Amino acid sequence: MVYLTRVEHFNAAHRLYNPDWSDEQNEAVFGKCSNANWHGHNFELFVTIKGRPDPQTGFIFDAKKLSSIVRERIVDKVDHRNLNVDVDFMQGKLCSIEHFVMAIWKELEPALPPQVKLHALKLIETPRIYVEYFGE
Ligand code: NI
Repeated sequence: MVYLTRVEHFNAAHRLYNPDWSDEQNEAVFGKCSNANWHGHNFELFVTIKGRPDPQTGFIFDAKKLSSIVRERIVDKVDHRNLNVDVDFMQGKLCSIEHFVMAIWKELEPALPPQVKLHALKLIETPRIYVEYFGE
């Protein structure tokens, strides 16, 4: 089994805010991340698929095609957007990086051809924080 990763980049704004809590509670839990006027990140999204190379091409799947699918389904919807406000698949969710990576999986996985098995997503939010998700 071989694992192939395609990396995509985008910028987006968000805010961590639980509407069931007071502003003070949000501030206490989320700190600056609950700033009412939003803040942004330079995200890196690592999309890893797994499979066996096709003997004709040597590819598990064409990395350019994988990139096109990721761009169409995810990057075009989130790049230079406000995740809380502009992104359909984040509506009604607390906009943490954990929820975001799970929502990306849900959007992306059904869009991949049947022979392509999604193995992992890694989403880097800052140089010191990232999440990984394996669809469980
Ligand atoms: Ni943030």
